Amino acid sequence: MAERRKLCLAAVVQFVTFVVALDLARQCGAASPSSSPDAKAMWDLARALSGLPSSWKSGSDPCDPEWEGVTCSAGRISGINLGSRGVSGTLPVSLSALTSLSSLRLHRNRLSGPVPLLSSLSSLQTLFLDGNAFDSLPDTFFAGLSALQEISLDDLPLAPWSISHNLSAAVGLADFSASNSSLSGTLPDFLGSLLNLRVLRLSYNQLTGSIPSSLAGSGIQQLLLNNQQDRDKLSGSIDVLGAMPQLTMVWLQSNSFTGPIPDLSNVTALESFNVRDNALTGVVPPSLTSCLTLKNATLSNNLLQGPFPQFASKFATLDVGTGNQFCTSAAAPGPCDPRVTALLAVAEGFGYPAVLAKSWKGNEPCGANWLGVTCDAQKSVTVLNFASQHFGGVISPAFANFTSLRQLHLSNNDLTGSIPDSLTQLPQLQVLDVTNNNLSGKMPSFSSSVTLKLEGNPKLGTDSGSSDGSSSGMFGSSPGQFGGSKAGGMIAGIVVAMVVLVGCLAALFLHRRKKKQEEKLGHVPTGTPPNEPELINIGSNRMNANGRGLDPLYTQSGADRASAYVGEAQGMYMSIQNLRKATNNFSEENILGRGGFGVVYKGDHNGTLIAVKRNQCDVMGKKGNEEFKAEIDVLRKVRHRNLVALLGYCDDGQERLLVYEYMSGGTLGEHLFEWQSRNEPPLTWKQRLTIVLDVARGIEYLHSLAQESFIHRDLKPSNILLDKDLRAKVSDFGLVKLAADNQKSMMTRLAGTFGYLAPEYATTGKVSTKIDVYAFGVILMELITGRKVLDESLPPEDCHLVAIFRRGISHEKKTFLNAMVDQVLELDEEDQQSLAEVADLAWHCTGREPYQRPDMSHAVNKLSPLVDQWKPTTNCTDEDDGDNSSMSLTQRLERWQRNNTNSATDSFGFTFK
Ligand SMILES: *[C@@H]1O[C@H](CO)[C@@H](O)[C@H](O)[C@H]1NC(C)=O
Ligand SMILES: *[C@@H]1O[C@H](CO)[C@@H](O)[C@H](O)[C@H]1NC(C)=O
Ligand SMILES: *[C@@H]1O[C@H](CO)[C@@H](O)[C@H](O)[C@H]1NC(C)=O
Ligand SMILES: *[C@@H]1O[C@H](CO)[C@@H](O)[C@H](O)[C@H]1NC(C)=O
Ligand SMILES: *[C@@H]1O[C@H](CO)[C@@H](O)[C@H](O)[C@H]1NC(C)=O
Ligand SMILES: *[C@@H]1O[C@H](CO)[C@@H](O)[C@H](O)[C@H]1NC(C)=O
Repeated sequence: MAERRKLCLAAVVQFVTFVVALDLARQCGAASPSSSPDAKAMWDLARALSGLPSSWKSGSDPCDPEWEGVTCSAGRISGINLGSRGVSGTLPVSLSALTSLSSLRLHRNRLSGPVPLLSSLSSLQTLFLDGNAFDSLPDTFFAGLSALQEISLDDLPLAPWSISHNLSAAVGLADFSASNSSLSGTLPDFLGSLLNLRVLRLSYNQLTGSIPSSLAGSGIQQLLLNNQQDRDKLSGSIDVLGAMPQLTMVWLQSNSFTGPIPDLSNVTALESFNVRDNALTGVVPPSLTSCLTLKNATLSNNLLQGPFPQFASKFATLDVGTGNQFCTSAAAPGPCDPRVTALLAVAEGFGYPAVLAKSWKGNEPCGANWLGVTCDAQKSVTVLNFASQHFGGVISPAFANFTSLRQLHLSNNDLTGSIPDSLTQLPQLQVLDVTNNNLSGKMPSFSSSVTLKLEGNPKLGTDSGSSDGSSSGMFGSSPGQFGGSKAGGMIAGIVVAMVVLVGCLAALFLHRRKKKQEEKLGHVPTGTPPNEPELINIGSNRMNANGRGLDPLYTQSGADRASAYVGEAQGMYMSIQNLRKATNNFSEENILGRGGFGVVYKGDHNGTLIAVKRNQCDVMGKKGNEEFKAEIDVLRKVRHRNLVALLGYCDDGQERLLVYEYMSGGTLGEHLFEWQSRNEPPLTWKQRLTIVLDVARGIEYLHSLAQESFIHRDLKPSNILLDKDLRAKVSDFGLVKLAADNQKSMMTRLAGTFGYLAPEYATTGKVSTKIDVYAFGVILMELITGRKVLDESLPPEDCHLVAIFRRGISHEKKTFLNAMVDQVLELDEEDQQSLAEVADLAWHCTGREPYQRPDMSHAVNKLSPLVDQWKPTTNCTDEDDGDNSSMSLTQRLERWQRNNTNSATDSFGFTFK
């Protein structure tokens, strides 16, 4: 068998090689070294730099033989590596002509002058310029460099620069390093949308502002922002760290960060946590001290409070004690005095203000001068006065612990939330003054001996903001900073989507009804809720895209549509917990299929059936990770009823998960080649035709109708999924490439499946939309013959379906089709005719030259009349509306639709009579 397989592949390779031999010869002739733009740019570079390897000679072909440190691919320069060679000089502007360059490594040299604009290097993935003497970077340096994955700009004496929004196009960016390079300005929000970003190293710069909250949910592992040199430094809260689960290394030392260390219990692999020399306050959270992966922590020179932290992990480096405000010491650890503990709970409600942290030293609140605290002779707290301190946050229920408290002054702050019920239990309380805050909620019933001062809280007592202080006090001054969890957003999205969907359906129905009655009176208002214009637009476009509104042949389930909106309404991220739940913890029983890429599970997400593709990135490696990201990027941009919809994704630790709509009918491959073992009837010819038309429409959309032109690159029966009505959707967009509009073909890394690869792609890597057309032609052949494109059980000369089919059709078409057609098909005369036409189409689609193959729209035009042959109606009597009480809803709908069309035709006809 293995021998057969080898022979079979050899036969295919022979065929393919023969087909493109001429083409190759032509290309190679054209690429003469002296005229190539790359050679000129390389000679410029060789002249501009000194200290180069001896093979760098202006005038010689840089690729043949390759100059030292240069890599070429298909006659173009793809890599330059001159790292640490003592090279000096200034980079010439013509460097930007090397448009195939994917790796430029010039690090640790003596290069000087400005870095030239490289915006035409759209394939550049790796850029190492660190450790040189460059003096400036153009403002729009990152424009056009959208393929960048690794950037290193450390240790450069650049003129001050800032991170331009142009970098946001580099969606694959994984490693961004620019320490000690005069970077100024703030950290942009878009960093949170770079899904692949793992390393952000920007230490020793002049950055200011705060860590953007958009980094919540980001996959960043190394966050190094230490030692900003500007007077202002980086500042604000570090709460967002708690929502960055992948962090292993956090270096924030020597900045001006404030507020508490957040709960880090979701950061499960933290190794290094360096925050010394900031102004952090609050109690060190147990999630940090109990973290067992921790190897390194420095907390000194902050205003940290509470008990001296006792770390569980026996790590190497530890710098905790000096310059903090702990109540106990390393020598005598243990809990704080109960009054201190209660005061810290009060401070937590306010978000641990620095003014309290600075003032509250030691473990005796009544001894020294603690801000706001007054005690009696028995050292019980009697008055707490936090008036006019600009405190935000909430009133902590822990005030109730001061059983001797007589006066509580909280006036003239920015406190929110409600007055906790627990305050009514204070037996000695005489005065509660909360004037001029922003409190809300129900007013607890205090005893009549308490003087209440409540003015200046317009929402107090309205019972609307029912949030209790105890529940929202967790994050102090910044509760809900991240605008609610992503899961929350998702659920909200689903609810909104459902409402919108129902609204749309109702609107459509009304629209139809009304149209029928009022004939061409223009649009019917759809009752768009004023605050949801975006969603409504998307919804109605979707309906219109179906052309005829509700197509009775193709009814998507409500869940399908609802989930499609979920994506539009952002919340695409799903938590690993939810996916575990949906798939019964990835149970064996839920497995739908396996492949080189990973495993696909069936799942139930709150009643919606989903398919979850699970990859583990250690198995997938970098390439797999790229495909994961590519698929998300593409499926976010394309939506079509013949393309499988992405409902969400999740990357958590090693897990990479993609969530799709569930397709209950399995793959086209199973229906074509495994129907016997699966105990199913074979597909009829009509079903096959409908399926290929669906596929053709999906691919036509990808090629020419979506916002951008995409190439699927891996079209094959196992990537075509069927629903319960055997309607098809194309799936697996991991290899999709953007086809540049101006440039119809380009070189690329070979990817795809043998048998379906177009000849020019298999041998030269040239990719255009025509490679999908080729694969589509192969699928047509498989549908006609019921044979796999490569059949290893046959002798080598017969194993390649494309070769046999093309030969057969060209020689004696009729005899050949009779012999080759799938024996399980029962064909009437009409079928035989359409089969012959599809065979012709297959022949054209698999033409040896790309230009010989039609566009996908041609295939759609050819196939659609075969599927849905229009015949003029012979029966002119319009059915009457009265006698239909026995009809089902679907029948009525169908008939109503038919009537609608007919009446339009009739009136049209009438005007011509
Ligand atoms: C780069 O950014 C500049 C200014 O921010 C903008 O004008 C320009 O259009 C951007 N270019 C690209 C290619 O994104
Ligand atoms: C910063 O870079 C300069 C060269 O530009 C180098 O001399 C200096 O040592 C670097 N500073 C740090 C802290 O690495
Ligand atoms: C940790 O993650 C879970 C699930 O995403 C979330 O519900 C919880 O609030 C997170 N905890 C913190 C402290 O962020
Ligand atoms: C701990 O951090 C210091 C710098 O703060 C570093 O030099 C050291 O290598 C780190 N140790 C470990 C085990 O990560
Ligand atoms: C009073 O303090 C104790 C421990 O200090 C704490 O467990 C309790 O929750 C506090 N009471 C209130 C009402 O917060
Ligand atoms: C009070 O809180 C609301 C939000 O709940 C906010 O919009 C308003 O600006 C706040 N008012 C003051 C005076 O802080």
